Amino acid sequence: MDKLLITGGKRLSGDISISGAKNAALPILCAGLLTGDTVHLSNVPLLQDVATILKILRQIGLRVEQDGDRIAMNGGAIDKLEAPYELVRTMRASILVLGPLLARFGEAKVSLPGGCAIGSRPVDQHIKGLQAMGAEVHIEAGYIHAKAKKLKGTRIVTDMITVTGTENLLMAATLAEGETILENAAREPEVTDLANLLVAMGAKITGIGTDRLVIQGVDALHGASHKVIADRIETGTFLCAVAASGGDVTLTNARSDILDVALDKLREAGAVITTGADWIRVQMAARPKAVSFRTTEYPGFPTDMQAQFMALNCIAEGGSRVTETIFENRFMHVQELNRLGAAIDIDGHTAIVQGVERLVGAPVMATDLRASASLVIAGLAAQGETLVDRIYHLDRGYDRMEVKLSGVGADIRRVKQ
Ligand code: EPU
Repeated sequence: MDKLLITGGKRLSGDISISGAKNAALPILCAGLLTGDTVHLSNVPLLQDVATILKILRQIGLRVEQDGDRIAMNGGAIDKLEAPYELVRTMRASILVLGPLLARFGEAKVSLPGGCAIGSRPVDQHIKGLQAMGAEVHIEAGYIHAKAKKLKGTRIVTDMITVTGTENLLMAATLAEGETILENAAREPEVTDLANLLVAMGAKITGIGTDRLVIQGVDALHGASHKVIADRIETGTFLCAVAASGGDVTLTNARSDILDVALDKLREAGAVITTGADWIRVQMAARPKAVSFRTTEYPGFPTDMQAQFMALNCIAEGGSRVTETIFENRFMHVQELNRLGAAIDIDGHTAIVQGVERLVGAPVMATDLRASASLVIAGLAAQGETLVDRIYHLDRGYDRMEVKLSGVGADIRRVKQ
């Protein structure tokens, strides 16, 4: 199992190019199931999660040609309407094949994802929405079996805001009969990116970027070309790394307009941030100041940035309160950060962080994707060596993170075992 060995205390300077967004690429790849034509994608990140979804899509019969960050996919010969447990259990986003398969072929069998390190994460809202569109759904032997001759448009109000739930129902609605209204829809930029691709494929969607998506079903979708949006979480992660280590780094191929709250928090922490149309520069000269926040749905503070900002708060001047409202168990990094000398207490859904002058490197264990990123940030800021174990979590969602960080002067390398 690979590990990352980090020697902390290096200032970071130079440029990092941001990859396409994992959480946009995953639904967008599944949208290839909606048409018999070819969909051309660019800026697809090179990640384990992308490899996993491609494996599932290929098993289903999607033809995929990959050349670096470019993918051409053709859904003209789909012959297996199933996503098996062995793959779904490794990545919950596999549930995103359910809506497209059911809408185009009238049938799908997808394994229930099962438990997850950050919370129970049920998919009841995906099922509720498809049932409202007329699907017959039953769960048997760990699988969701869904059938519908033709999905029918209707008004769906999800109990809570769900990102992949919105994406699944949106994709299903593009081929349903009549009008579907998705109320309480997620407004995350990744949902918008998917919706933009679907429109390019011939879908009729209004309200894109709002919490009310209105979809007029069409008989068929066609091929299109699309560039995946920049990864705002990868962007935010590197911004936190620079804020924690000190330095001057410009992130290229980045979007500042989808990171407002995180950028405001970094400024509050003392970073100087300047932005252009497709770049963000961060300069940090002093010890960060502690910043408190509460995670919420977009455009609020992203839960996917909570752990990275917590790492920053660990070495900040002052105390902070970090409240997690999206997932019930997303504080697994706390005990590991404390092993590096951080002073964090948990009180229910709030972590109370007292900034310390310095962290000291130690072996730590990654528990989920964003927790791993927080340990890397802490390791970069700590004195001495930090060895981050179980970095397969990191490889799921970051495109060569250690290569990008060593390119700006970090002392970080992958240790193969
Ligand atoms: N929920 C339900 N029932 C459902 C769906 C969601 O109870 O049917 C609950 C969840 O348990 C959670 C809340 O609703 O408490 C929100 O979950 P959501 O469905 O929005 O999360 P998701 O779609 O499974 C996506 C991202 C996550 C990100 C969350 C929140 C993808 C592939 N994943 O997950 O990304 O944290 O939205 O923004 O888009 C990550 O990249 O590290 C990651 C975990």
